[in-house]
Amino acid sequence: MGKIVARTFEHRDERAMNGVIQKSFKNPAANAYPLPPSRFVVVAELGGKVVGHTSIRPMLFHVGGSIVRAGVLHMVGTDPAYQHKGIGHAMMDKAVETMRSERLVLSFLETPVPGFYASKGWEVVRERADVSIPRAAVDARVAKAPVHVELRDGSLDRLASYVAFRERMASKCWFFVHANEEYMKPLVEKACQGGLVDFFHEIWRGGKLAGYVLGTRDATVKEAKPLRIAVQELALDEYDPALVANVFKELLAFDDEFGAVSAGFYVVPGLAAAMEELGGTEVKVGGNVDMVRINTVKEFLGHARDQLDGGLVAFLNREKLDGGTDVTLDVGGERVLLSCTSGHLVIKDAERSKGDGCAVLPLSRNDFARVVTGQAAPSTIVKEGKARCDQPAVLGQLDAMFPTQPVVINYTSTFFLAHLEEMGINPFPWA
Ligand SMILES: CC(C)(COP(=O)(O)OP(=O)(O)OC[C@H]1O[C@@H](n2cnc3c(N)ncnc32)[C@H](O)[C@@H]1OP(=O)(O)O)[C@@H](O)C(=O)NCCC(=O)NCCS
Repeated sequence: MGKIVARTFEHRDERAMNGVIQKSFKNPAANAYPLPPSRFVVVAELGGKVVGHTSIRPMLFHVGGSIVRAGVLHMVGTDPAYQHKGIGHAMMDKAVETMRSERLVLSFLETPVPGFYASKGWEVVRERADVSIPRAAVDARVAKAPVHVELRDGSLDRLASYVAFRERMASKCWFFVHANEEYMKPLVEKACQGGLVDFFHEIWRGGKLAGYVLGTRDATVKEAKPLRIAVQELALDEYDPALVANVFKELLAFDDEFGAVSAGFYVVPGLAAAMEELGGTEVKVGGNVDMVRINTVKEFLGHARDQLDGGLVAFLNREKLDGGTDVTLDVGGERVLLSCTSGHLVIKDAERSKGDGCAVLPLSRNDFARVVTGQAAPSTIVKEGKARCDQPAVLGQLDAMFPTQPVVINYTSTFFLAHLEEMGINPFPWA
């Protein structure tokens, strides 16, 4: 077997790269366009022949109140004639090298084959689910707690207001794509054209714009299932269940045939809680899963500092302590000191370690991803036997800093060009 080389894309690779994508995805129309600048595109060669492709779409995400540079991995494919020879792994290593050098702190992808990525430090965020509420439950709540709301057609003239609502909604989430006007425009544009399927409505309450709702209406009847209105985004400053029910009632007023309102895996935690309170039920939808990889641990923790510090301060108040315990996190060899003795969190390079009061918690990159995506507390990882903490008493403090919490992964990676200017990246493909 020749040598596997995973390298940055060059203009001359374009034809071969397109052939590989079409063969690996078994789809003659599959493609990776629009391409990011070439330094974000990885091809793999075997004996000088292009046999693999992936690209990284640089995007910005909200993480606990900060906006963080991220990369969405796109169209990972190896020519079927050359699979199971290590080409995919070589491309993943090159992609991680690029993400680190481009300061893309974390990365996302969606895939039907999570096992392949898990061995490279990626972790499934959660399975996709759909929350659905029948019309009768909406009606019952509205009868009990009427709130006067009016839905008006959206207009691209007010894009800036919609972006402001969405950004407020996103900034309260732990992971959510950043939206600027360029990102938001294609989402709103189609729905504003007044078709029967897509909709975008402004929500007015007490003479004021209170938010917006974006989604689609079922166009075809599925056997034994009510026609549904699917909410893709409901941006409100507060998810009061009575207000949500009244917005849903207005949506259902479109036609008596619609029997339910649903919201998909992208539903924000506040809306999910409101829908649950209204009697919504969650159904796993299967299909692709979302995965995350934390590429640079120290930078990630730096962005999340305020949120982690809030957990630390609450813990110290509860325990009536002036200061916490310093902890070195060792994530696959990346060592970061969480300095907590002052009573506030300071993120430092880990020069200190055992022997001077500093606890050490080693975690695999996958388990670190589980911790920061709110799926597993540090003490759970230790209980599972996947990590050993040399000072188990510190786990209470760490659990308070890294609480389990709901996470939303919501992005449209084809809109990545909207973020490049803010990221200081020249959008020219061959740059
Ligand atoms: C997913 C995909 C990109 C993997 O590409 P690949 O080049 O076969 O990947 P690798 O050879 O590096 O790894 C595949 C498996 O072969 C094994 N392998 C690696 N080198 C090997 C070698 N020299 N000999 C035998 N097996 C090997 C790996 O251990 C790996 O197993 P794992 O997934 O359990 O870790 C490829 O299957 C593909 O193109 N699929 C279709 C498109 C697709 O679904 N893409 C993902 C969409 S997000």
